[in-house]
Amino acid sequence: MVDLKGQYNQIKDVVNSSIQEVIETTSFINGPKVHEFQKNLEQYLNVKHVIPCANGTDALQIAMMGLGLKPGDEVITADFTFAATVEVIALLNLTPVLVDVNPDDFNINIEAIKKAITPKTKAIVPVHLFGQCANMEAIMKLAKAHNLFVIEDNAQAIGATYTNKDGTKAKAGTIGHVSSTSFFPSKNLGCYGDGGAIFTNDDDLAHSIRGIVNHGMYERYHHDVVGVNSRLDSIQAAVLDAKLPYLDDYCDSRRNAANKYDAAFKNINNIETPFRSGSDDSHVFHQYTLKVKGIDRDALVKHLNAHDIPCGVYYPIPLHLQKAYVDSRYNEADFTVTNQLVKDVISLPMHTELDDEQIEYITSTLIKFING
Ligand SMILES: Cc1ncc(COP(=O)(O)O)c(C=O)c1O
Repeated sequence: MVDLKGQYNQIKDVVNSSIQEVIETTSFINGPKVHEFQKNLEQYLNVKHVIPCANGTDALQIAMMGLGLKPGDEVITADFTFAATVEVIALLNLTPVLVDVNPDDFNINIEAIKKAITPKTKAIVPVHLFGQCANMEAIMKLAKAHNLFVIEDNAQAIGATYTNKDGTKAKAGTIGHVSSTSFFPSKNLGCYGDGGAIFTNDDDLAHSIRGIVNHGMYERYHHDVVGVNSRLDSIQAAVLDAKLPYLDDYCDSRRNAANKYDAAFKNINNIETPFRSGSDDSHVFHQYTLKVKGIDRDALVKHLNAHDIPCGVYYPIPLHLQKAYVDSRYNEADFTVTNQLVKDVISLPMHTELDDEQIEYITSTLIKFING
């Protein structure tokens, strides 16, 4: 699905020397590279605070801890996302409230959020799924009206830009009260191990979170709150800092590949290519996800694999039907979109190194299957 080796080969010298610098200085934990990367990412995103941490799941959990959410508080999020989003809500003994998504852009549905809000609701977690920004303007409006926090799960959309109706723009992950991201190797900005970060423009929240990531310490060996140990190690920061200047080019490469896929599938009736709900820069194609109609999706997966084409089904089971998250309060009629999407979606290889020959092989193999 990704070609991390091909990408590494393009930037080998800069990555190697950045890693070497860490080894020479032996500042493996919280070294200068972590601080440099933090500052460079703050500048790139135009956000006041980036707090690096160990992975994207921790980032979400710590963001929620920083907001002071309490057991029993209800947190609304999408039924169609990776489990990490709901997992941390449950881990903190908050009450996850899963809601349906849009059939076109796969993002959290605004009417479903409205329906789910109760006096116990404290936060909404939109996920910018597959690299496309959720409807942040509507979400922020709802949050303001109901006095709710918004935590953007930006694990799949770093580099995406959201455009408001008045034309003003902001990077995904800088619009809500706080955001989380993942630097998992296959992410649009990926390191060579695990990594994550929290973003916020709120000075007090940033201060609180900086202590939480470090055992609740604001002064050495003074533990004021219950915290965690969640650090981005310096070698991972070195990789990320070397790759950050390429992020916009990486996003462009992914968009170009997506446009080529779209063109190849233009006249194929059984395929719905990914819908773009905003301006071109609002989608960074972490995944290129098709909806297939009237054909056997699982047979298509087998066919592609048999032709050495990797593909993925993200996600095959709605979260509300996962054993860990079933809840008698859920009503199947409220999840018609997700229940259908899990049957229809298929994600094709998507990365920065896809070339025309590979795209032609993938698309022609897929079209041949459809045409029988
Ligand atoms: C939407 C979403 N949220 C959270 C995460 C968790 O990130 P990590 O794997 O770095 O813990 C992921 C990672 O796949 C993700 O896709």
